[in-house]
Amino acid sequence: MKRNLLNLTDLAAEELLQIIDLSGDIKKNPIKYKDIMSQKTLLMIFEKPSLRTRVSFEVAMTKMGGHAIYYDTKNSPMGVGETIADTAKCASRYVDIIMARLFRQADTIELARHSEVPVIDALSDIAHPCQIIADLMTIKEKKGRLKGLKLAYFGDADNNVTYSLMQGCSMVGIDICIATPQDEEELNQDILKGARSIAKEHGSKITITKDAIEAAKDADIITTDTWMSYHIPKEEKEGRVKRFMPYQVNNALMSRAKKDAIFMHCLPAKRDYEVTDEIVDGPQSVVFDEAENRMWTEMAVLIHLIV
Ligand code: CP
Ligand code: NVA
Repeated sequence: MKRNLLNLTDLAAEELLQIIDLSGDIKKNPIKYKDIMSQKTLLMIFEKPSLRTRVSFEVAMTKMGGHAIYYDTKNSPMGVGETIADTAKCASRYVDIIMARLFRQADTIELARHSEVPVIDALSDIAHPCQIIADLMTIKEKKGRLKGLKLAYFGDADNNVTYSLMQGCSMVGIDICIATPQDEEELNQDILKGARSIAKEHGSKITITKDAIEAAKDADIITTDTWMSYHIPKEEKEGRVKRFMPYQVNNALMSRAKKDAIFMHCLPAKRDYEVTDEIVDGPQSVVFDEAENRMWTEMAVLIHLIV
């Protein structure tokens, strides 16, 4: 049966843990997987910019003996009016799997609905599942476990990475505390409620607070994301900077977390906005391991979906 990865909740918690373990095995012994995608092609449809996602997926396919095609909607019939349905029906006659970075997840869902092959959401308005699988792998590498840890997130909570973090942490039993100036009502209620019920099942919790210091207290992982996501209009910058600045991750905030806390960021970082240089480049930062792990986890996701 065709499987998509649009939200982390498309996976059972057990499958998510298996993918993280498989990623570890691939990282240790990539040669074992060198032909596993032989004769297979991944189509990568992009409506927004990317460094990590584009390059890591392409290299992932190369390392497994397959091929990846970069397809920018600016240079495609889809960008000038061909329907998503027709695009999906044609493309899935050629390729074995599609990943799409579209502005609206509703469009990625439409693509998946008409595609004969699996579709992966590679960042939309409300999800970034591949990022969070890499984040969980990184946490497991650094902390040796997942269950029972506390992750504190700062800044924009109405955000793709944050929504997928809520789901991912809940699925593996990590407590997530989100410090944000936004009211809970401003967030996507379906995702929040869904994640809360998953958390309950796995003995963890999701807390949303305006108190950054309280959120950082006893945290094992401190994380944030840009306040100016790719889809946010430039005119909003000034207002957002003012609103989110009290949630900047800097030395003062980091010092409230556990001594051995790690700092994570999906990148790209806007230095001196959501995080300072001293933190991104400091000894607790694991951001480049996290970026590397995008590749290993994507290899595992591709194997999980099409082998
Ligand atoms: N973290 C992430 O998805 O980065 P890119 O936007 O560079 O792909
Ligand atoms: N929230 C960010 C994530 C980038 C990987 C954005 O949407 O731009």
